[in-house]
Amino acid sequence: MLKSKITPRKLLQMKQSGEKIVALTAYDVVSASLLNEAGCEIVLVGDSLGMVIQGHSTTLPVTIDDMIYHTRCVARANINSMIVADMPFLTYHTSIQDAVTNAGALIQKGSAEAVKLEGGADMAPVISRLVSAGIPVMGHIGLTPQDVLNVGGFFVQGVDKESASELMEDALTLQEAGVFALVLECIPAQLAEKISRQLTIPTIGIGAGCGCDGQVLVLHDMLGLFKRFKPKFVKTYASLYDDALKAVAQYRDEVKDGRFPAGDQSY
Ligand code: KIV
Repeated sequence: MLKSKITPRKLLQMKQSGEKIVALTAYDVVSASLLNEAGCEIVLVGDSLGMVIQGHSTTLPVTIDDMIYHTRCVARANINSMIVADMPFLTYHTSIQDAVTNAGALIQKGSAEAVKLEGGADMAPVISRLVSAGIPVMGHIGLTPQDVLNVGGFFVQGVDKESASELMEDALTLQEAGVFALVLECIPAQLAEKISRQLTIPTIGIGAGCGCDGQVLVLHDMLGLFKRFKPKFVKTYASLYDDALKAVAQYRDEVKDGRFPAGDQSY
C-alpha cells in the first residue's frame, strides 16, 4: 500500500532519485483496489478496455462516455494511486476546445487526476492548453494504437535512424509542451533508454526495455486473463483465465450432480 498520494511532483522526485514507477491498467473497482493494495503508483484507465473489456479488435470504438464510466468505477476504489484516464480516439483532434471539454469531463465526471493522449509534436498545442487549464497530461509516443488504420497494424516503431530521431524530437517537444510523464510504447530498448536519459520528466515503458523510468502493462495481459493475443513484451504473472475456467466448470458439475449447494450454503 502506498503511504501518500501520488502526484506529478512525486513522480518527478521518483525519477530524480532513481526509484522505478509502477503502472498498470484498471477498469473497475476490483482491479483498482488490487493496484492500490499492491502499491502501484499509477492506475491507468486505458482505452485498451475497448479490446479487453468490450471485445473490439482495436481501441477506436471507445467513447468518452465509456471512459468516464470506467474511470468512475476505478475512482470508487482508489486511495493513493494516481488515476490517469485515456482520451479516446477523436476526442482531442477536432479542436482544442473539444479537447478541453473532453479532458474536463474525465476529471469532473470521472474523477480522473490526469489524462493521457497519444501523438507526437502535432499534439503540443493541445497539451499546452490542457496543462494551462489545470489538467495534468501524460503523453504517449511510439506505437500509438489509435493510429492503427494509418499504420496498418501494431508494429515496433523507431527502428530506423530517421524515425528514431523523430521520436526523440517528439519526446522533447511534448516535454516542452508540459506533459508530466511520457509513455514509450513498443520501441527499441536502446532508443527508449536514450530518450529517458535526455528527458527530465519520467518515461513509462511498455515494450520499451528496462531503461525507462517506469513500466506499464495491461492488467488482463499480465494476469493471463486475455488470451486472444499476447504481444512479445507481455510477461504473464498468473493464469487467471485458466484458473477461473476450472472453477466455473467445477461449479457447473456440482450444480448438475446436486453437490452444490451443500448444508454449509443452505439456511
Ligand atoms: O490503453 C492502454 O492500456 C494504454 C497502455 C497500453 C499504455 O495506453
